[in-house]
Amino acid sequence: MEAKKVIIPVAGWGTRSLPATKNIPKEMLPVYKKPAVQYVVEEAIDADLTNVVFVTNQQKRIIEDHFDYNLALEAVLRRTGKEHLLKDVRQVAEMANIISVRQKEQLGLGHAVLCAREVVSREPFAIMVGDDLMFSRRPAIKQLLEVAQKEHMSVVGVVEVPRESVSSYGIIQGEEISPGLYRIRHVYEKPSVKDAPSRLAIVGRYVLTPEIFDYLEKLEPGHNLEYQLSDALQALAQRKRLLAFKLEGQRFDIGNWVDYLSGNIYFALQDKELRNDLTKSLEELLANNK
Ligand code: UTP
Repeated sequence: MEAKKVIIPVAGWGTRSLPATKNIPKEMLPVYKKPAVQYVVEEAIDADLTNVVFVTNQQKRIIEDHFDYNLALEAVLRRTGKEHLLKDVRQVAEMANIISVRQKEQLGLGHAVLCAREVVSREPFAIMVGDDLMFSRRPAIKQLLEVAQKEHMSVVGVVEVPRESVSSYGIIQGEEISPGLYRIRHVYEKPSVKDAPSRLAIVGRYVLTPEIFDYLEKLEPGHNLEYQLSDALQALAQRKRLLAFKLEGQRFDIGNWVDYLSGNIYFALQDKELRNDLTKSLEELLANNK
């Protein structure tokens, strides 16, 4: 089962990140030098998923534009002798084949994925949530593509979260069939701490068969009156057709300020030119804020 397209939903309102997201999409907030969603697309490219389907809304044209040429800016860079900056601004326009579909009303992640149905057609596909950054030597989505290919089954990425965070996620119950690989029996959407069957939380990486659309289509509004992808996953799990794989890597949820700020520091620290000065500045800040 080989997926060639990836759906990246970016149509949400980002209310947790207001006021920053009043006019700037959450997915375009910079994480060090790049907008968050660029890291997600780069992860897709590293896994050979070059056909990217953005699910967008009226306010999000800036995301598509980021992955296009900006000829006026390029002309300015050439005219002002800043050719060294050209490569980075052109490269981002050339990395992927971008396809956009609109989610006309923000009715939840399940609904956003359903909006891409016609584009995906009858092929297996990946989903990468546009505000969820994962970093590891082996791209997280590639880890899932390999499992799906080997097991011929849909698979979702999970990570272990602290017990007090389970109520922010879809939590799985299942049995471990090989190290890090689980057959899911049940998906609980945002359970209370006392009801959660595990600490294994579904994060924004999935490889699914088009069968999921049949369940998405039949969804009733769930948690927060939104159409929840987790509810459709639960229907797949009930038929024993869903696996979970524990992802390796560092994760940052851009909609969470601690993660967002840590992600910025994580990336800036990888830049050799900045590393020493930034470390010094952070040490001073921490010392002065005790
Ligand atoms: P979130 O729930 O984190 O995003 O959805 P949100 O709704 O934008 O943010 P808050 O909770 O109000 O702060 C995860 C991803 O799914 C997309 C979002 O853009 C985000 O990248 N999404 C969410 C959609 O595309 N459509 C929706 O209806 C909901």
